Amino acid sequence: MQGKMVTFEGCDGVGKSTQLKLLKEYMEKTGQEAVFVREPGGTKISEQIRSVIMAVENSEMTAKTETLLYAASRAQLVEEIIRPALGQGKLVICDRFIDSSIAYQGGGRNIDVNVVRAISNFATDNLKIDLTVFIDLSPDDAFRTVKKEDRLEAENSDFHSRVYKAYIDEADREPDRIVRITPCIDKKETHNKILEALRNRGIIH
Ligand SMILES: Nc1ncnc2c1ncn2[C@@H]1O[C@H](COP(=O)(O)OP(=O)(O)O)[C@@H](O)[C@H]1O
Ligand SMILES: [Mg+2]
Repeated sequence: MQGKMVTFEGCDGVGKSTQLKLLKEYMEKTGQEAVFVREPGGTKISEQIRSVIMAVENSEMTAKTETLLYAASRAQLVEEIIRPALGQGKLVICDRFIDSSIAYQGGGRNIDVNVVRAISNFATDNLKIDLTVFIDLSPDDAFRTVKKEDRLEAENSDFHSRVYKAYIDEADREPDRIVRITPCIDKKETHNKILEALRNRGIIH
């Protein structure tokens, strides 16, 4: 049986990694198997591409280059890790995926979202995502607002507003795939909301 593909999405600093850590702990505690990966990265080549994308000194990088680098990193991750795991019936949970490209390169960098989608689908051979957990919080309300760690996080607030708007458009466009979770101050409460969404879809128990 083919495994399931779940992605976590949302603006910078809204708690994706925090929630993925809680989910990983829950899966281990309850003896459920899942493969956790992050984007961009997750393979040797993808991590090398990641450092080129993220490096603050690469300020001259064009939007097209950035879009293609994300897609290249994704192609490698899908072929090396994700497809084989799904083929073994495993649950794969990815910190960011195609919707991040739509939000950041589409919304943020103003590249036509249909082009971004086409490039991503080429990179992944149209890999189907079973469920996307969209942590729906505006960049202004994000838990982390001061620490600007990489080239994309360091973009101005206009950029991050466009990213958020593109996420909202995407969530409206695909309501069956994308579940919107409004995070709470209490991380545990958000965690429980996410568990409920995953249980409702029969992805975990
Ligand atoms: N519910 C919360 N309340 C307060 N701070 C939080 C909450 N969730 C996450 N954080 C903090 O916000 C920061 C960003 O969270 P992180 O999980 O790294 O976000 P992301 O992966 O979406 O960028 C971290 O310092 C984290 O500890
Ligand atoms: Mg993170």
